[in-house]
Amino acid sequence: MGPRLLLAVALCAAGCAPCRGREAAPSPPRVRCRASRYPVAIDCSWTLPPAPNASRPTAFIATYRLGVAAQESRPCLQPAPEATRCAIQDVHLFSMRPYILNVTAVAPRGASSALVPFVAERIIKPDPPEAVSLNPASGQRLQVRWEPPRSWPFPDLFSLKYRIRYKRHGAAHFHQVGPVEGTSFTLRALRPRARYCVQVSAQDFTDSGEPSDWSLPATVPRIQGK
Ligand SMILES: *[C@@H]1O[C@H](CO)[C@@H](O)[C@H](O)[C@H]1NC(C)=O
Ligand SMILES: *[C@@H]1O[C@H](CO)[C@@H](O)[C@H](O)[C@H]1NC(C)=O
Repeated sequence: MGPRLLLAVALCAAGCAPCRGREAAPSPPRVRCRASRYPVAIDCSWTLPPAPNASRPTAFIATYRLGVAAQESRPCLQPAPEATRCAIQDVHLFSMRPYILNVTAVAPRGASSALVPFVAERIIKPDPPEAVSLNPASGQRLQVRWEPPRSWPFPDLFSLKYRIRYKRHGAAHFHQVGPVEGTSFTLRALRPRARYCVQVSAQDFTDSGEPSDWSLPATVPRIQGK
């Protein structure tokens, strides 16, 4: 290396770093996977952490392997390359090998990958139950009815169990009952003429994964007196 080239390299190292640093490779995406339509598919989505000078990704590549040592990787299906979600439609039930999802953000200045391991059963989270309705009955009782989430494909095969929480308007805390197996439950010994707010949550019957979020609240005008 001649002295002149050496000088140029030295100058560039001092002078070019800030401009090269203006647009760094994208940050790795933050990925989350859920099996809310177990066992039909696993849905993953991602966001990019805020990074002021990182180049904006133009596309994402999402692939997965089954097992840490697996050679073959398959596409996690995206609706479009720019989409920030994908679906694995080949769900291995009770697999001993974890899925390894690889989401790569591709930008003009580079690419950056996030690797996410998971087992299908551990990321089950049903959507909340739907159509929660209340039917005041005599004797300070309230019948609560609901339907399984429509996104849960086979409620007869892969049963759900439910928890109910209810609160008198103005009260600080919820009461919780369950889990119950059916899709209705009668709350008893409620306060006459009070208003109640009721929500229902679903969970896989075998306790896999986590419970759903609480359903939209159903409210009843007033509990009938005696
Ligand atoms: C981002 O780029 C601007 C302009 O080049 C620079 O002044 C700033 O320090 C950079 N910020 C980071 C976090 O690199
Ligand atoms: C993740 O995917 C990207 C893009 O397909 C690939 O270049 C990279 O090698 C993968 N990483 C691993 C650890 O498999």
